[in-house]
Amino acid sequence: MTNRFYVTTPIYYINDVPHLGTAYTTIAADVLARYHRLRGDETRFLTGTDEHGLKIQRVAAEQGLDPQVYADGLSAKFRAAWPRLGCAPDDFIRTTEERHMRGAQKLWSTIKDAGHIYLGHYEGLYCVACEAYYTEKELALTPGLCPVHKTPVETVKEESYFFKLSAFQDKLLAYYEAHPDFVRPAGRFNEVKSFVKEGLQDLSVSRTTFNWGVPVPGDDRHVMYVWFDALSNYMTSLSAPEDNTRFWPAIHFVGKDILRFHAIFWPAFLMAAGIELPKQIFAHGFLTYCGEKMSKTLRNTISPVELAEAISPTVGVDTVRYCLMRAIAFGQDGDFAIKDVLQRYESELGNNLGNLLNRVKPFTKEVLPAGEPGQPEADLLQAVTRTVDAAAKAFDDLNPTGAITIIFEVLTLANTYINDTAPWIAHKKGDLKRVATIMSPLLVVLEVASVLLAPVMPQVAARVREQLALAPIDWSKHEALWPFTLPVRPEGLVVKGGDQLFPRMEPEKIEALIKAFSPPPKSTDVTEAAPATTPSTTETTVTAAPAEATEPRVRAPIEAMPTISYEDFARLDLRVGIVVAAEKVKKKDKLLDLRVDTGDAAPRRIVAGLAAAYTPEQILGKRVVVLCNLAPRDFGKGLVSEGMILAASDEASLKVLGVDGEKIAGAKVS
Ligand code: MSP
Repeated sequence: MTNRFYVTTPIYYINDVPHLGTAYTTIAADVLARYHRLRGDETRFLTGTDEHGLKIQRVAAEQGLDPQVYADGLSAKFRAAWPRLGCAPDDFIRTTEERHMRGAQKLWSTIKDAGHIYLGHYEGLYCVACEAYYTEKELALTPGLCPVHKTPVETVKEESYFFKLSAFQDKLLAYYEAHPDFVRPAGRFNEVKSFVKEGLQDLSVSRTTFNWGVPVPGDDRHVMYVWFDALSNYMTSLSAPEDNTRFWPAIHFVGKDILRFHAIFWPAFLMAAGIELPKQIFAHGFLTYCGEKMSKTLRNTISPVELAEAISPTVGVDTVRYCLMRAIAFGQDGDFAIKDVLQRYESELGNNLGNLLNRVKPFTKEVLPAGEPGQPEADLLQAVTRTVDAAAKAFDDLNPTGAITIIFEVLTLANTYINDTAPWIAHKKGDLKRVATIMSPLLVVLEVASVLLAPVMPQVAARVREQLALAPIDWSKHEALWPFTLPVRPEGLVVKGGDQLFPRMEPEKIEALIKAFSPPPKSTDVTEAAPATTPSTTETTVTAAPAEATEPRVRAPIEAMPTISYEDFARLDLRVGIVVAAEKVKKKDKLLDLRVDTGDAAPRRIVAGLAAAYTPEQILGKRVVVLCNLAPRDFGKGLVSEGMILAASDEASLKVLGVDGEKIAGAKVS
């Protein structure tokens, strides 16, 4: 019987671009999908975008765009980002696609026909960013504010269809009891059970206050609650364009913040529709940055593609994948730190994996007959066999961190084996048979590693295989390649060799990476960073950060401008603006096309020559100073700028002017 594996990521809200936090889930799903492909399982990996809801309708309106046009643009960014991170989903579903909307309506009708949906009224505290209601109890620690986003919740009252969630409390508890691995990790499952035991209320599953959603069948005054719409993607992707329903049930990878939707609502909807429940729901932790969840709302995101490119055009993507999977035990939270990434690049990837390949290359330039293997050779091969089994168990157990640790242990053993067997001594003596004997298990280790590591580092695995003169892995074939039987190298196959896998980074590059991907220093850090000899006058003394440049910079002579009156100055409408959207302008590499909230009814479009100084991600969310009453400037092709962002420039760089503190958009600058 064919084994099947169906893994899903949450479908991402499109009010954001993919960042390292969202990439974490997608990479984890890709790793597991690749592992199952290597096991020969029929595998399906689904991701996509969640495009309906008030939040999207509002942002699109603010930008004067049709929501579908807005959604098309943002969804495309997600679709394009994943392959750039080595991820190969089998399907990318969008909730605005016809196939999805039809599927969601079918699920609704099945549940309604079974008597589990009724019409009523709802009043509650709603967070637009979560698209979820909160109870007063849930807001106890953050009164009036969403506990996730720390933004105000809104009171919403509306006619609504309700799903009879309360009727499923006992059924859910019985199901949990019978399926002890339904939700993992176990601690999170306990939280889910406690929540259900406290009692479930019926769930409002439709909205009338906006129309950007899937129309409720038979009552198009209502659109479906986004979570009803979104959760159904896991099934709707299987029904169209072709029938893939054989893949159900799925394993859902989700962040811990959305576990309740997946472990309570979704199973209840499926029970109500008479559909088999998911195989498992795995809730992973958060990727944090300086201890805070990495998220657009908190404006502390890192672009995984930029990070990967900055590390290396060849192995940067795999380095990022490796670090995310290795550094953060799947299920726990973990903090991102560039220094940690650089350390792993050098010590684990460079000094262990890369070094092993390098050490083998000089002794395998030609094929020589090997002698009888001794105990060290036999021991190493046994360790490899154990590793193949143990790594499979770890991946089967959804523990990529464990699998990587196990695989790297055998690489360490192989490096120790080289130290102990010292092939260079035999080589110097001209004992080439001994050299070949020593090398023989090492070639097995490397070949096995090129398969075992391929789920996490597909490109690195391909490079290792190329250097060993092995055929590349063909991911499109459902071939069982997991080396439960150790490979035997074909006779006469010469190692090709090639560039170092993980070349040592120059100190300047390390410094530049640390600078680019470290959080900005807090003002208190500046005081702490002051040299010990700086006399401290009062406790509040803040010492300016040392100048960045090592050489004193010479300022060009300044040409004074004619004096103007205060009235002249007062005619400038200068305001604080917050950059709410940013993208590059095609074929104009100096320009950024920005939407800046300057306190007007809608954000204004500003086309700014800032692209050399800032990426769209870097400028997004910045508080800037805007000259609002500058005559509009037409850049052609409908690109009209309605203001100017003030910036300071010298020969070295261009920096936008900011404001201290959290001034609101539109605050007057004078
Ligand atoms: N659209 C819903 C999901 C619907 S699924 C039927 C949603 N979208 S989201 O874009 O806000 O989040 C998607 C996933 O990304 C969630 O699992 C969330 O936990 C995860 N992450 C977002 N930021 C993250 C980190 N900083 N770290 C780890 N995962 C993160 O919720």
